[in-house]
Amino acid sequence: MEAKPIIAPSILAADFARLADEVGAIEGAADWVHVDVMDNHFVPNLTIGLPVVQSLRKSTSIPFDVHLMITDPERWAPGYAEAGAYNVTFHAEACENPVALAKTLRAAGSKAGLAIDRDTPVEPYLELLPYLDTLLIMTIKAGFGGQKFLPEMLEKVRDVRRRISAKDLEVRLEVDGGIAADTIAQAAEAGADAFVAGTAVYGAADPAEAVRHLRGLAAGARSSG
Ligand code: DX5
Ligand code: ZN
Repeated sequence: MEAKPIIAPSILAADFARLADEVGAIEGAADWVHVDVMDNHFVPNLTIGLPVVQSLRKSTSIPFDVHLMITDPERWAPGYAEAGAYNVTFHAEACENPVALAKTLRAAGSKAGLAIDRDTPVEPYLELLPYLDTLLIMTIKAGFGGQKFLPEMLEKVRDVRRRISAKDLEVRLEVDGGIAADTIAQAAEAGADAFVAGTAVYGAADPAEAVRHLRGLAAGARSSG
């Protein structure tokens, strides 16, 4: 049985010169704020880092879902937990010992998430689920917003949902990339219960309304599925 759907707007699609206002626009509607940290090494793109997260943390009460697309997450991830992030997710491809880092993050005060990029199979990581709070399946290749949703990634979502259900685990199953009104239902039907949406929220005239619409579609897909 899945938990209530979480909608996590990605500020990657927001106006970086007005970040506090942009987060304010989803206050009361969004469950989490998704913060994409990119280092120009793990992915070619470069975005924001710890000082921005520390400042933004003071401007909102919405929990932060930090998505680290960086090399050497062992060195940097705990700082985001200490800065007050609710959940810190690092990439499987960048981490040699995910269980150890998950423990470090929990000790530093956040939830711990593991992300699986487009070209990485999920099977080797299923046995790590008991040590994680969040498993993020990329539904694009990590690195840029505004890409097209890859429905073939939903096979991974189904595999993870089966394992979570079989072992009765409390793990959020998150999808990230190309999630919008025309794709969120299929992700929900496959078993996702947390949804990152950048363009679909910040590209909309009314971001808060877009969040509510997406949540309704996700909840509806599950009750009919
Ligand atoms: C891309 C990021 C995503 C991105 C999603 O690597 O991890 O969170 O912001 O953007 P959309 O929703 O536009 O695909
Ligand atoms: Zn992301």
